[in-house]
Amino acid sequence: MKQVNFIVRENVPIAADTWKLVLEGDCSAISGSGQFVQLSIPGVFLRRPFSVSDVQDGLLTIVYKVVGKGTRYMTALKEGDSVDTITGLGKGFHPQKTGRKALLIGGSVGTAPLLLLARELLAAGKEVEVALGFNTATLVFYKEEFEKLGLKVHLATVDGTAGLKGVVTEAIAPARGYDYYYCCGSKIMMKAVAAYLDTPGEFSMEERMGCGTGICYGCSIQTNNGPARVCADGPVFAKEDMIW
Ligand SMILES: Cc1cc2nc3c(=O)[nH]c(=O)nc-3n(C[C@H](O)[C@H](O)[C@H](O)COP(=O)(O)OP(=O)(O)OC[C@H]3O[C@@H](n4cnc5c(N)ncnc54)[C@H](O)[C@@H]3O)c2cc1C
Ligand code: FES
Repeated sequence: MKQVNFIVRENVPIAADTWKLVLEGDCSAISGSGQFVQLSIPGVFLRRPFSVSDVQDGLLTIVYKVVGKGTRYMTALKEGDSVDTITGLGKGFHPQKTGRKALLIGGSVGTAPLLLLARELLAAGKEVEVALGFNTATLVFYKEEFEKLGLKVHLATVDGTAGLKGVVTEAIAPARGYDYYYCCGSKIMMKAVAAYLDTPGEFSMEERMGCGTGICYGCSIQTNNGPARVCADGPVFAKEDMIW
């Protein structure tokens, strides 16, 4: 864990109410995909948590959806602004759990952390396929980024305006040959995925956070291993640990 003053290099909309923020600075505390960072945003009291979406060449990318005061303030960040950030938080995905081929399953903004995970899996020589679910075409992001990595992407939208019509399980259905999956999205979407797939996998959970560093217990959930703090024991949990 490390506190870093990052410098904004880019802050642009990439889909409806969805922005990409690229920050330059010391990324050394970030050990892998599925970890998160906490941004201090002027005007809001608590730091706001966001998944690491990508890390390359000293640049940290996060993708954020505008849902409230803090994320609305973030849209005003300009190139050159400084952002007080705690990095290297949480326990992330386990790329080594994939045998030959992984399926990455993203729901809405939960797609964000899967980009770095895809790079890690490819670097480890694994095959990767992607299933994405969004409500509507204007919300879709990162499809091209995965395709640029050479990955097959199955897309579903609830209203059928892009890809298959339906929820994310429609996008999962055509995927083949995977022995492990990684899923990030809303709790209701992840619960549906857990029920739909017999394959082993893991989930990145989201809870409202206070400290974000394991001290306040404000993000506790019940798991099959007892109570767990999403910020410090997760946010990634194995399928068999989850109580939905
Ligand atoms: C580990 C982790 C990783 C996350 N990664 C991302 C990410 O990559 N991209 C992204 O857009 N968002 C992510 N989030 C959610 C993000 O932290 C919240 O959307 C953000 O804090 C909202 O701040 P706000 O001030 O704009 O909204 P607020 O004004 O605080 O709240 C607006 C609405 O959002 C809901 N909300 C706020 N925080 C959360 C939360 N943590 N979980 C569920 N609902 C919440 C509130 O209940 C309320 O309805 C992540 C959350 C966690 C815990
Ligand atoms: S947010 Fe404080 S322990 Fe997780």
